[in-house]
Amino acid sequence: MCGIVGYLGRDEAYPILIKGLKRLEYRGYDSAGVALIDGQGELNVYKAKGKVSDLETYCEGKDTSGSIGIAHTRWATHGEPSATNAHPHYSASGRLALIHNGIIENYATIKENLQSLGVSFRSATDTEVLVQLIEHIQKSNDLDLLGAVQVALHQVIGAYAIAILDREHPDTLICARQSSPLVVGLGGDGDFYLASDASPIAEYTDKVVYLNDGDIAVMQLGHDLQVVNIDNEEQHPKVRQIDITLGQLEKGGYPYFMLKEIFEQPGCIRDCMRGRINVDADRITLSAVIDYREKLVAARRIIIVACGTSWHAGLIGKQLFESLCRIPVEVEYASEFRYREPVIFPDDVVIAISQSGETADTLAAIELARKSGAFVFGVCNAIGASIPRQTQTGVYIHVGPEIGVASTKAFTGQVTVLSMLALCLANERRTIDGARYKELVAELTRIPEKMEQALKTNEQIERLAPIFTYARNCLYLGRGYNYPVALEGALKLKEISYIHAEGYPAAEMKHGPIALIDSEMPVFVIATRDKLYDKVISNIQEVRARGGRVTALVTEGDERIRQFADHVIELPDTVECFQPLMAAIPLQLLAYHIAVCKGKDVDRPRNLAKSVTVE
Ligand code: G6P
Repeated sequence: MCGIVGYLGRDEAYPILIKGLKRLEYRGYDSAGVALIDGQGELNVYKAKGKVSDLETYCEGKDTSGSIGIAHTRWATHGEPSATNAHPHYSASGRLALIHNGIIENYATIKENLQSLGVSFRSATDTEVLVQLIEHIQKSNDLDLLGAVQVALHQVIGAYAIAILDREHPDTLICARQSSPLVVGLGGDGDFYLASDASPIAEYTDKVVYLNDGDIAVMQLGHDLQVVNIDNEEQHPKVRQIDITLGQLEKGGYPYFMLKEIFEQPGCIRDCMRGRINVDADRITLSAVIDYREKLVAARRIIIVACGTSWHAGLIGKQLFESLCRIPVEVEYASEFRYREPVIFPDDVVIAISQSGETADTLAAIELARKSGAFVFGVCNAIGASIPRQTQTGVYIHVGPEIGVASTKAFTGQVTVLSMLALCLANERRTIDGARYKELVAELTRIPEKMEQALKTNEQIERLAPIFTYARNCLYLGRGYNYPVALEGALKLKEISYIHAEGYPAAEMKHGPIALIDSEMPVFVIATRDKLYDKVISNIQEVRARGGRVTALVTEGDERIRQFADHVIELPDTVECFQPLMAAIPLQLLAYHIAVCKGKDVDRPRNLAKSVTVE
């Protein structure tokens, strides 16, 4: 959601900025823009509605020279998607240009004040208010840019990551962060890169500084990075090393990132378990559990907070923790949890799950939990993101950058980490017997190989997909561990194919959705062999009796369901609690192929953002 890129150095900025914006396309956006200061001190701003490629077309033949610049992809919050509302925004005199991620909550009051002082506005955005405010302060107080930014930010309520250029200072780039991520890359030559996550920076440098809330960074060519706060107190951020390869950021021969990421899953899950499960495959060691053993083992209750796909992984976590560790678990939408008055005890463990580590609602839920004295544990993918920095401890899922907006490998990575955590805690709490523990650990290590087998369903699913493109509604059914997988399958389909889909616990279907079933309604049933197998078969019969068309995911060798399902997709057998790791794969592939058949842009579905940094 909204992307920021900046560059200050000796090379031409424009190609670096455009490439950076393309790396951030996965975050979701509806317009893009760039600002550059050329050799003559002109500050040029170019903006276009649509994709980064539309911006490039717009810039053809224009002066895009200059070795300092900022660029932005916008996901509309205030004001429709348009070139006028796109960032960067000029200040009234044209001296400053600013880009912004986040929301300025008190923008209307500030705007009214400025209007009463004669400042006029071109756009409907909250962002323009900020740049006009900074210029107004700069002019009326004779302050330098940093001083004006500090005064302005004192007046602002809300979340922001901003970057600002001043044509009077063509060697300086200033940025600031409050509740919206920003990363500064330190080049070898006193040059600087700036971005909302490390992906646009990774190919230029591996040395980065993740700004903290309240930080203002001043980048000046040939000087060390200076970081202060709004009261001008010097800050001392850590320089960190990032480990992202170019290959991880590119499609590697696949037509879409989503397909690449689906196929990466066996390798990702191996990476996720590497160093955590020993070579004999009979013991799991998580450093977070060693360091905080007492807190975790004594948990009276676990509260899982998350959004979207991560929330679905949380529902699987609930079943794992309850059945293996005998700890009661609640799974909460972070956006609801933060605004209720939830009862949180000091001996609760709150687990925040997030791929991006930047989801605004999840961050707010963490803050609430911390204030209530609970112990907060993060399950995150993006290294160094805000969530791992704001939780007391946690486990990275280590599945590499996920670019496709529809989450795939992060889901299976999250379920794998939750499985390891549940097994670790169950072993510590003695709620699982030793033999069963070893059996489950060993089975977990076999999952990547079984995933490779599950991926072989790809061709069959590609052939089936055209059958479903006509559908306006689909139903996904599952029970037990597979119920959250049904929710996730339905979410994948609606996200990228725009077909309405609902996930339901199979037995609950008769309390409502059964009324929708007819021969036009595809029903996908996860019917793998487990303790609810016979019950799910009855549910399939209920669908069939109403003329419904059933596609069943079954355990390999299942001949029973084949007799009455329209289509059968076979999956490798595994224990019940790890079945989601198998069943998720064909449902991801199904959503992918249906969307491709419908001609949709799978990696950049309309209206969606990968990283939701506003509430
Ligand atoms: C957005 C993404 C989803 C993701 C959700 C939560 O809606 O499009 O794929 O599941 O945010 O994001 P998080 O990064 O916290 O897991």
